[in-house]
Amino acid sequence: MNPRVLEAINRQINSELSASYAYLAMSAYCECQKFTGAARWLRLQSQEEHMHAMKLFDFVLARDRSVDLLAIDRPKTDFRSVAEVFERALEQEQEVSRQIDTLYETAFNEKAFAAVAELQWFLTEQVEEEKTAREIVAKFKMVGNDAASLLDLDRELGARSAVETAAGS
Ligand SMILES: [Fe+2]
Ligand SMILES: [Fe+2]
Repeated sequence: MNPRVLEAINRQINSELSASYAYLAMSAYCECQKFTGAARWLRLQSQEEHMHAMKLFDFVLARDRSVDLLAIDRPKTDFRSVAEVFERALEQEQEVSRQIDTLYETAFNEKAFAAVAELQWFLTEQVEEEKTAREIVAKFKMVGNDAASLLDLDRELGARSAVETAAGS
């Protein structure tokens, strides 16, 4: 693997860990607001982002190169509402999609074909992650400030299974 691709993958490991940290902060905010279903969903998402980081971490090591763990920024912790948390989550996923696109382009241009194959999983994963976040944002818009509907939505989010995360979806 050439140094440019290695450096870009190491930066992506940092992005995935930063996303994991950001989701953890979002989960804490929702728990404080007593949106325990949303909090559970976000905690599982945090674990999923950690798994994404580990997938790249293991790939770098499998290629017999060195992992460079960079500093993780302090995540945003203040939000106006639970709905805003998910708007922020969608923006974060869109940003990660752009990063994966750039990383894929780098790997492709450098003819790092094993990395290209590895990154294909991430391209597909980002389509799914953006779709899911977009649907949740739309649902929060639909329910607005209706308390009963918000409670229903929170219950729906809380039904997310841990198995889903383990399967990498
Ligand atoms: Fe991710
Ligand atoms: Fe993600």
